[in-house]
Amino acid sequence: MSNILGRISADEFLCDYWQKKPLLIRKALPAFISPISADELAGLALEEEIESRLVQHTKKGALTLQHGPFSEEQLQCLPKTHWTLLVQAVDQFVPEVAALLQHFAFLPRWRMDDVMISLAAPGGSVGAHFDQYDVFLLQGAGVKRWQIGERCDEASTLRPHPSLKLLEHMQVTDEWLLEPGDMLYLPPQLAHCGISEGDQLGITYSIGFRAPSQAEVITHFADFFAQSLPEHARYSDADALPCPDYSQIGEDVLPRLKTLLAPLLQDDKRLLQWFGQFMTEPRYPERLFAVNCDEKSLIKQLKRGDRLRRSPSARLAWAQSADGLLLFASGHSRHLPKRLQPLLTLICQSPALSAAALAAWLIDDEAQQLLIALIEQGSLEFFDE
Ligand code: SIN
Ligand code: CO
Repeated sequence: MSNILGRISADEFLCDYWQKKPLLIRKALPAFISPISADELAGLALEEEIESRLVQHTKKGALTLQHGPFSEEQLQCLPKTHWTLLVQAVDQFVPEVAALLQHFAFLPRWRMDDVMISLAAPGGSVGAHFDQYDVFLLQGAGVKRWQIGERCDEASTLRPHPSLKLLEHMQVTDEWLLEPGDMLYLPPQLAHCGISEGDQLGITYSIGFRAPSQAEVITHFADFFAQSLPEHARYSDADALPCPDYSQIGEDVLPRLKTLLAPLLQDDKRLLQWFGQFMTEPRYPERLFAVNCDEKSLIKQLKRGDRLRRSPSARLAWAQSADGLLLFASGHSRHLPKRLQPLLTLICQSPALSAAALAAWLIDDEAQQLLIALIEQGSLEFFDE
């Protein structure tokens, strides 16, 4: 597989650019042909279960935002210029789009969010803004001018707008015209603005990453730990001394609170279990289709030629823990013996698991039980193409 980073190695990219500075890669995917057409993308924006947005310029140059699903009529009536249709998580619906993620194997899959695809008419733009996440912007069709500016934060001035977070000013520091196959990497919080040029519809792939905010981490961490903490684990002050003023929270309180909380952060095993579950929570849990399965039906289906694959909506990851392995699957975790490690890599990475690929594992009871549990949970699914 060609290196999507061009002449830059993954090591160099991680050291010099990742989360630090933008990088333009001309011909990241040479002769790239968008695996999805403008019509197919517009078709996805009609679907109830797919998140889509339409950003349009008004005659006075302001931007408006509408959320999908859209009707065929609405999309057919769009003007010739100055609109952008954005469709979220296309990788979960179009396997050829999901396949693009293989080019980003130098980054952990659990850090990836989704592939958003935009369809833009000439002059179409979502305006100058910044995102909280790293993103690779791959041009799929047509041409787009990308302008970048300064690093922004909560203090950056936004335009008063009811639904779009648009920057009041953007000091353009660089700009490039991207053609199909060209790609621009942007670190989080960098001001940017893309404007579709030329006379045809443009398609841009945004391979977006996710990093939980401190607030999300704290909330989820607290929820997870709270479920298993015993009632008797409480604030305690057996060392209390007579208080000079009974309305005062004394200086002895904070160290006791820290004693109460600190062990939670020191329990590496639980911390890892929580984090893996947290980071593999699916974006669309309703798209995981659980089916009943047992040893007999597993073997029967594989023998008749059906194969197993990760559900496009499942998130999988694994980790080494002190006493074995942990497999994380769509918000759940399972402790497993070390010998199953090659199977975990296979389950997480292989596009199709056939009876032949699984042969050695189907005679292992624990491996078999694991496959059954993943099928019953909807993280693995049979397919027969
Ligand atoms: C676009 O595809 O035009 C917008 C993507 C972005 O700026 O995040
Ligand atoms: Co953006």
